[in-house]
Amino acid sequence: MPGLIEPHGGKLVNMILEGKEREDALERSKKLKKVILNDREVSDIEMIAIGAFSPLDGFMKRDDYHSVMDNMKLSNGLPWTIPITLSVTNDEAADLKEGEDVSLVNKDGEILAVMQIEEKHNHDKEKESLQVYGTGDMAHPGVAKVFEMRDVLLGGRVSVVHRIKQEKFNQYRLDPEETRTLFKEKGWKRVVGFQTRNPIHRAHEYIQKCAMEVVDGLMIHPIVGETKGDDISADVRMKCYEVLLENYYPKDRVMLVVNPAAMRYAGPKEAIFHALIRKNYGCTHFIVGRDHAGVGNYYGSFDAHYIFDEFDPQEIGITPMFFDHTFYCKRCESMTSYKTCPHDSSCHITLSGTKVREMLKAGVIPPAEFSRHEVAKILIDAMKQ
Ligand code: ADX
Repeated sequence: MPGLIEPHGGKLVNMILEGKEREDALERSKKLKKVILNDREVSDIEMIAIGAFSPLDGFMKRDDYHSVMDNMKLSNGLPWTIPITLSVTNDEAADLKEGEDVSLVNKDGEILAVMQIEEKHNHDKEKESLQVYGTGDMAHPGVAKVFEMRDVLLGGRVSVVHRIKQEKFNQYRLDPEETRTLFKEKGWKRVVGFQTRNPIHRAHEYIQKCAMEVVDGLMIHPIVGETKGDDISADVRMKCYEVLLENYYPKDRVMLVVNPAAMRYAGPKEAIFHALIRKNYGCTHFIVGRDHAGVGNYYGSFDAHYIFDEFDPQEIGITPMFFDHTFYCKRCESMTSYKTCPHDSSCHITLSGTKVREMLKAGVIPPAEFSRHEVAKILIDAMKQ
């Protein structure tokens, strides 16, 4: 489509079988050995199927897996920073042969896809933790997840026979093909994507609106796949977005679309991954703020900015929009940042996540300079349940 940014690798992948091909595969799949997927693998299949992970067409084989860890690139040289893997136990692997077709099923036993096992390879958990997450600390939720996964990886293309019928957020579920078409219909040439896993606060709103000043449209793209246990649920976060969009955003310049991916908490590495996904959805720009996709104190506040310097901007394709730490300043009487505010921190209203949680739990509405009261009310109600 002329005028729109190219997907990563040049072609939007579509691994969803249709018609006779699908019927045949579905029939065949019933007789195959089954591999049961965890929630992350299920959402990864969805991301692969709809082209959100283009150019990936399946779970990674050895070359890609190691190349991503060693060089932040796929084996064909394209930038990629997060392994996309499917794991089984040693016992399960012993019963599976390379070249064999298997059915990939969710926990309820529904067959989602057929995959030919092109390679069985070792899940190098230590290396993955250190190279992708920058730590071997099991307290890091991404590292804990790596070690929770099983010991053998299965690599191969997936052919999706059944997309799980989702109960939630259906009006916000758009595939990259669909967002691309919508951007074109709306005449948006420059579209900024916003990644988020937290309830929207004023700093989020401020950086989104700063970005909107220089592009045609904003795609707010909250993660609704697996997040860590103490993150606020996607249901609640979406309600916050709905009320905010209704009251404070121009409807013709903003789209709310859910991102079915699972969160990794890999900080800088995940910032690149997040940007590439939004490129596949058709965004030309991507917001990277303070401690993007970070957790605890594992990453420097701006590591997720610096990592972009390690790539050729042409290869990344999507343009990052970097934001410094933003907050309300009482003397400026506005939202501002370290980049634009000359006043010292005594003038700034900044609250830690823990502090805000404590306030909300106690039913206390945080200052309006930190959170819109409509959002605070939703969060307080959610905490009561
Ligand atoms: S994240 O894990 O998805 O990055 P979150 O939903 O909190 O967490 O952040 C969404 C985006 O807003 C990220 O790009 C993050 O860097 C940015 N961001 C969050 N809070 C601030 C802030 N106070 N100042 C600048 N950027 C911020």
